[in-house]
Amino acid sequence: MGYGINWGPEFETGIDIIDEQHRRIFDYLLEIDHAVTTHHAEEVEKVVRALIDYAISHNTFEESLMEKAGYPMLGPHHEVHEAFKARAQAYNERLEKGEDPFRVGREVRTDIALWLTNHIKKDDQHYVPFVKKSLEGGFVSRMLKKFFK
Ligand SMILES: [Fe+2]
Repeated sequence: MGYGINWGPEFETGIDIIDEQHRRIFDYLLEIDHAVTTHHAEEVEKVVRALIDYAISHNTFEESLMEKAGYPMLGPHHEVHEAFKARAQAYNERLEKGEDPFRVGREVRTDIALWLTNHIKKDDQHYVPFVKKSLEGGFVSRMLKKFFK
């Protein structure tokens, strides 16, 4: 494909639910790429919107895990997510204004893909040890309560 939108081990966090959601983001990018190369305008528009919705929900979900973990960089990470939201919503607005979906789709495929892949590789990796620890701790304490009085 050549757009750097294929999943690879460098994107893995080791947190199953996060990896699953990140993989879904990659799938959306490939779906956009496919719709662009096969010239399906409606499909491009549909998948661009779906990706943007999904990525924003995913970011909010991530923030809830960071909050639970007491992640010290939650504030700055939230700001980065807000910047993404503004950028992503600008694509939605361009579609609403009737701009050529292929042009928007191609930009999303490269620009949003680059943003997300960098974010997953760098910013997200930083919260991983904190969130992992908190998820494990939560699980351990739930199990302790369940089996010990
Ligand atoms: Fe993030």
